[in-house]
Amino acid sequence: MTIPRVATGIPGLDKMLRGGMPQGAVVLVRGAPGTGKTSLAFQFLVHGAKQGEPGLFITFEEFPDSLYRDAASLGFDLQVLEREGKLHIIFTSPAVFLESLKEPDSLIYRRLMSMDIRRAVLDSATHFTRLTDDRLELRSIYTTLANSLRREQITTLLLSEEKRTDYQRADRGALSFLADGIILLRYVEVESEIQRAIVVLKMRGTDHAHEICHYRVGAGGLIVEDAFRGRRAILSGISRRI
Ligand SMILES: Nc1ncnc2c1ncn2[C@@H]1O[C@H](COP(=O)(O)OP(=O)(O)O)[C@@H](O)[C@H]1O
Ligand SMILES: [Mg+2]
Repeated sequence: MTIPRVATGIPGLDKMLRGGMPQGAVVLVRGAPGTGKTSLAFQFLVHGAKQGEPGLFITFEEFPDSLYRDAASLGFDLQVLEREGKLHIIFTSPAVFLESLKEPDSLIYRRLMSMDIRRAVLDSATHFTRLTDDRLELRSIYTTLANSLRREQITTLLLSEEKRTDYQRADRGALSFLADGIILLRYVEVESEIQRAIVVLKMRGTDHAHEICHYRVGAGGLIVEDAFRGRRAILSGISRRI
């Protein structure tokens, strides 16, 4: 049976995903600052916009002006896409966004519906951890979030900040369990040089590559290349020759 898939627009990653993410999936993109989460998200939204799938970018940290600038440095003109009605950028707070999902009459929700949003990005889901110290409440927040998006069949990337060193940090709200998929971006030390590694840790409803691949960030965003060969302990951050 073939399932409807949503391509990220990054050829190497789409190959790892056997064509793309299952439509309506809520996928966690985890990585330390600077690994390229936001860049990957731009690629995903711009690719959708070009194919007539309107996108929504919700940011809790960057003002639209600084987003426009970052996107422009990668070669993307987000303002043109907004004017054409193919992209919508909302700068808000986690609390307001969460309320809007529970309230179908809210401005954000109505906009989501009227624009027929097919793809969404949340930059970043990590901000929800500031809403509560209670583990169960956080889990309930993430459940509300994921279920609202799934119900509308909106394919969503939840960007998630990792620290550069502490990779074992507890997943307090169990977001890794709730998400349909996890894409991990990592800095890796190889022969005293920092390289970048990408891996699909999980993707419900589809087979996917299990290898860890090299990627670069340049004009146009992420470029996913070949797999790391002849090395071990890549995800530890410090790899060694086999
Ligand atoms: N035009 C560009 N050419 C090359 N690298 C770029 C360009 N624009 C951004 N980068 C690189 O992309 C990375 C930032 O990516 P970003 O998506 O903001 O990361 P994150 O959201 O994970 O913090 C930085 O390492 C930066 O050097
Ligand atoms: Mg970012």
